[in-house]
Amino acid sequence: MAAVLALDKQAIQRRFERAADAYDTFSVVQRAMAEELVEGVEREPLSILELGCGTGYLTALLRKRYPGATIEAVDFAPAMIARAREHVSDVRFLVADIEELELEPERYDLIVSSATVQWLAEPEQTVGRLAGSLDRRGELHLTTFGPRTFWELDEVLGELGCERGLSLLPAKKWETLLAGAGLHRIRAHSCEERFSYPDCVAFLRSVKSSGAGYAPCVTAPGTLAEAIRRYDERFYDGAGVTVTYEIVTLSAGR
Ligand SMILES: C[S@@+](CC[C@H](N)C(=O)[O-])C[C@H]1O[C@@H](n2cnc3c(N)ncnc32)[C@H](O)[C@@H]1O
Repeated sequence: MAAVLALDKQAIQRRFERAADAYDTFSVVQRAMAEELVEGVEREPLSILELGCGTGYLTALLRKRYPGATIEAVDFAPAMIARAREHVSDVRFLVADIEELELEPERYDLIVSSATVQWLAEPEQTVGRLAGSLDRRGELHLTTFGPRTFWELDEVLGELGCERGLSLLPAKKWETLLAGAGLHRIRAHSCEERFSYPDCVAFLRSVKSSGAGYAPCVTAPGTLAEAIRRYDERFYDGAGVTVTYEIVTLSAGR
């Protein structure tokens, strides 16, 4: 797995801000993750906190499924929040960094976050604070990407001396973090999904258009072009290039 590089939160926030208009077109995987997350919720919540709401796909699913609940949805990219407001009403939106939120103890009976916690700089501390904000029967549900995500890209970049800038935690590590936060009934599930793109350039364009970065290390002239050439050569299966996503689904309760 790639070495841990310090997260540049401002750069992440800027990328998502720029991606807000195109995000819905390129977030097929993230939509499936949000749908799976909602299916896993067991109790009928009255007060929901959503973290990293993006353009509001999960927010809208929650609003529809729990019409009587209050929903607070947070994202640090104002353009994402503006999009989400167009999609769903009767939600309290907040532009803020998840890791700087002031969280009231035992305030929510459901806290959710889909395809976002991989961007946290301090997941252990943040999960601990979220756990403290769940009420006594509260549930926390998260989806994220595991370390096998984009292993094909890691392989070609690794050969060229590049490391991906994002270190993705395995499901086991998330389980440990949830247990360390004092949570119970922990469930962690990981599965690999393979997607096909016409070629490596189309894949990288899609990653970029959904706000994620792929390799801040690619600075040497020609490195990216060579990575793309190797990817197309090695992972083309006759119809397109394959791309692996490892999807991690987590839930826990107080
Ligand atoms: C991949 S998108 C997922 C959006 C949405 N949950 C979905 O499934 O479509 C990640 C979102 O999290 C937001 N985000 C990432 N780190 C954040 C942080 N520390 N605080 C607040 N928002 C954050 C980004 O701005 C982006 O909108």
